[in-house]
Amino acid sequence: MKEECEVFLGNSTDVRVRYAFDSRSENNHALILGISGSGKSTQLESMESDVINHGKKVIELDFSDSSCSKTFLAAQTHSIDVRSNSVVSPLAKRSNVYGQPEDSIDFSKRVTDLLSGALCFKSRQRSLLYEAVKMAAEGCGHITFLDILEWLSLSDTSAASVSTKLQYLADINIFGNHTTGGWQKLFQHPKPIQVLSLSGFPPAERKVVAELLLDDLHNYLTECGPGRNDFILVLDECQNLRLTSDMPTAFLLSQGRKYGCGVWLATQSPDYFKRDELAQLYQPALVLNFQPNVVERQKICRRLAKNEKEKAALLDMFEQLGRGQFVASGHFIRTSGALSEYEHLLVDNVYGS
Ligand SMILES: Nc1ncnc2c1ncn2[C@@H]1O[C@H](COP(=O)(O)OP(=O)(O)O)[C@@H](O)[C@H]1O
Ligand SMILES: [Mg+2]
Repeated sequence: MKEECEVFLGNSTDVRVRYAFDSRSENNHALILGISGSGKSTQLESMESDVINHGKKVIELDFSDSSCSKTFLAAQTHSIDVRSNSVVSPLAKRSNVYGQPEDSIDFSKRVTDLLSGALCFKSRQRSLLYEAVKMAAEGCGHITFLDILEWLSLSDTSAASVSTKLQYLADINIFGNHTTGGWQKLFQHPKPIQVLSLSGFPPAERKVVAELLLDDLHNYLTECGPGRNDFILVLDECQNLRLTSDMPTAFLLSQGRKYGCGVWLATQSPDYFKRDELAQLYQPALVLNFQPNVVERQKICRRLAKNEKEKAALLDMFEQLGRGQFVASGHFIRTSGALSEYEHLLVDNVYGS
């Protein structure tokens, strides 16, 4: 039985608001919404500090271009520059439940789906990529972007548009060095917070790299099996990822509980996401709203309130929000230790307290 993990979110009229990131809650996910500068990242850091004190690990993808994202947790944080250090190998074949390696067809389908989606390939480009990855993977345990380019150059000239989009990833030779046991090393690292920094990538390539990393994490977790890990995956500025149901993030949101994974998503606006992605975005049992955009307030209320009366009350709370304040929606820990009914609380963040 994993230990209880209580996190202090802030104060609501002198009452300490506490949330259970453990088996008491429906899931250990959180969604943090709010305009830029409203305090989302600060809140994430304070929540991370509580969960690591309860023995959880934190894995974080950092999409910002500033390498100094952590301030007061710097000593507990190990940062990895993914561009120069291939900690894990998403371009390697996986083994199935019988220990047999993935065949080239399945491998190519998986890699092609991820790359084509992130790079917006059309169906012709997709099939050229599929053939090239399949050929490159024949008889090899892992491939590189250079291998893919080599096979693309052997196909017809229309492959040039595919090669152009992969050129950058091949030039930096991302994931070129094959490693094994990468995730295990991160989870066993003496520092509880592992930040995988994606700074310095152009936006499309950043998306590719992030999704390859998450797909590899998904695979690691299913290989370990249920109940073996206990961690929070922090995805600040998550509009950098696709949340469609075929994406690894959607898997982690729907199956996270089984694999000991809570996902904390932070973004400025739900409007970055398409309709089918919104279903994933609102999976978290805890939602914190820091000054939502005026035009989006109605939409957010509709998602979080069960009836018109609750919706009106929630809208009213949104109007009152100042800097460092948020509305927390969820089940909170009562003094008795039991969870409250689903409720919305106006909370002052922990800043300065
Ligand atoms: N209650 C507060 N009072 C004053 N400043 C705050 C408060 N909470 C957060 N801040 C400051 O606001 C700034 C923006 O916060 P940040 O967490 O980076 O926002 P976001 O991630 O939403 O863009 C930070 O410099 C932070 O220190
Ligand atoms: Mg931020």
